[in-house]
Amino acid sequence: MNKIHRDGGRHKSYVEYEIPEQVNLAIITKDAVSFLEQVPDDSIQLLILDPPYNLDIATWDTYDNYIKWAKQWLDEIARVLRPGGNCVIFGGFQFQDVKNGDLLEVMHYLRHESKLRLVNLIIWNYKNGMSAHRFFANRHEEIAWFTKTDKYYFDLDAVREKFDEATLEMYLRDKRLNPENVRKGKNPGNVWQMGRLNGNSLERVGHPTQKPQEIIRRIVKALSYPGSLVVDFFAGSGTTGIVSLQENRNCILVDSDKSLVEMFELQKQKSKLEHKYKISIKPTQKELDKFFMK
Ligand SMILES: C[S@@+](CC[C@H](N)C(=O)[O-])C[C@H]1O[C@@H](n2cnc3c(N)ncnc32)[C@H](O)[C@@H]1O
Repeated sequence: MNKIHRDGGRHKSYVEYEIPEQVNLAIITKDAVSFLEQVPDDSIQLLILDPPYNLDIATWDTYDNYIKWAKQWLDEIARVLRPGGNCVIFGGFQFQDVKNGDLLEVMHYLRHESKLRLVNLIIWNYKNGMSAHRFFANRHEEIAWFTKTDKYYFDLDAVREKFDEATLEMYLRDKRLNPENVRKGKNPGNVWQMGRLNGNSLERVGHPTQKPQEIIRRIVKALSYPGSLVVDFFAGSGTTGIVSLQENRNCILVDSDKSLVEMFELQKQKSKLEHKYKISIKPTQKELDKFFMK
């Protein structure tokens, strides 16, 4: 990889894509496991999953045996991903007892029971959060990035961070560095400092665990390409759908709670959408099949 990087070459997972004239989005109110039964093999470029963790945050967050439930969708990930596909799973390490789940259990399960490969554990670090008196206040959550093969799609250039002017000038004078790469900016690393949505954030639409568009955008831009298919089957307020339309990707949103439709509509009204798009709510099987066509 380093040699490819120095020579300015392309990684073997590089995909030639065309910018689509229109992208499509489907919204489905359904249980994640029964949705997955409709999904063909090798059909999804990017899965963005922010599942429940059995922490009793809401009515959808209670399971008698978390991992027994989670296995049903974890076992499907490798099947539905395209060979160059990516899957990110949000979560934290907040183990309470054997009945509860957390990302550590999910990662342990995938390491031992699946063929998925862990590429990065991203630490999402934020300054705003709950106070604590008996332990250090929590200021991070994790995003585990898995792939189906080692030929996964990754567009680092799409998410590089520009250097500030003084640093850029200094690095451009440094003869050991490639000026083209310096101008592109730096790898953002695997610790992402991005604020959580406050109660009064403009993006907020009323979902208790709504994710900021900024964090979903970095994932969508790096791990999928224009015209490819992004799926989120724990869609909540539909943040993944908004970002996918903004970034010219097709998207399927699924949630067992029908408030997804209203929340997505509210987020859409608050967001700027520049590309041409079509939205199908409750798509027919025939409409859905078109999303999976390669
Ligand atoms: C952590 S939230 C996702 C929030 C979302 N990332 C956002 O930005 O708004 C988890 C979501 O999973 C949904 N959910 C829970 N169990 C489900 C199931 N069995 N099938 C589909 N969705 C489910 C819940 O309704 C909830 O909206």
